[in-house]
Amino acid sequence: MCFKELVRKYYSELGVKEWRRLVRDPYHRLEFDTTMYFLKKYLPKKGLVLDAGGGPGRYTVELAKMGYNVVLLDLTLKLLEIAKKQIRKARVQSRVKQIIEGSIDDLSMFEDNTFDAVLCLGGALSHIVVEERREKAIDELVRVAKKNAPIFISVIGRLAALIGGLVNFPERIKLNYFQEIRDTGNYYGEYGFAPCYFYLLEELEESLRKRKLQILETVGLEGLATWHRRELNRLFKKYPESWKVWWETHLKTCTHPSVAGTSEHFMVICRKL
Ligand SMILES: C[S@@+](CC[C@H](N)C(=O)[O-])C[C@H]1O[C@@H](n2cnc3c(N)ncnc32)[C@H](O)[C@@H]1O
Repeated sequence: MCFKELVRKYYSELGVKEWRRLVRDPYHRLEFDTTMYFLKKYLPKKGLVLDAGGGPGRYTVELAKMGYNVVLLDLTLKLLEIAKKQIRKARVQSRVKQIIEGSIDDLSMFEDNTFDAVLCLGGALSHIVVEERREKAIDELVRVAKKNAPIFISVIGRLAALIGGLVNFPERIKLNYFQEIRDTGNYYGEYGFAPCYFYLLEELEESLRKRKLQILETVGLEGLATWHRRELNRLFKKYPESWKVWWETHLKTCTHPSVAGTSEHFMVICRKL
């Protein structure tokens, strides 16, 4: 099976769990809430948004509710079926202009300069293991964005993946795959998760800069709380006043390069010049 098929199989099996992922607990909500905070900061007031690799459509639904017109594209048909249900449930069908099964490395169904904003969130880009295809995907995301449109790309961080090994799978650190991730960023899908390329922050930034995109902001989506799921959830449940201060602290720290670079997911926001 090729990488793309393995990714599709992984997300097909995950199904509705992927719809719930971003709201399953306060730790996972950090990724969603932080992304939404920065989408609201940089999106134009209205327009047509591409949610590329949007899966079951969490952001599609949210943006449609806010009045944006959205096109949702994803590799995994099963997730798009879930998205259709959620779109109907939220009564935003008229805002969701198209739902397309496709891959972000071939957006040839869209003309150049089509979208007022482009999203590629939650690591869709990270799931393209072959470098050439990944670069092609970035070219495509940029090509279909209008001049001056913001482009939001969030990926899975390599340094956090290594810390994740220490925290979650210490017995596996001795295995070759850990060193492969450390040295190349590549993970071929041997241990449960879908095949993935784990990015270094500076590398994604460089890849965007060389395309003459203006980088607006770089954000660690879990930030300082990365891999502190239990502690973060406890804070939310037991200490509501402290939670408010943590959220404020998160927003004040998540754009530090060192925090973004070690975050489980980080997002680079850029503008097409
Ligand atoms: C973790 S989910 C993120 C979904 C959504 N963007 C979010 O943030 O909630 C990763 C998504 O990337 C999609 N994906 C992986 N490779 C892709 C590709 N080459 N083209 C389009 N979608 C892809 C998967 O099907 C899955 O829906």
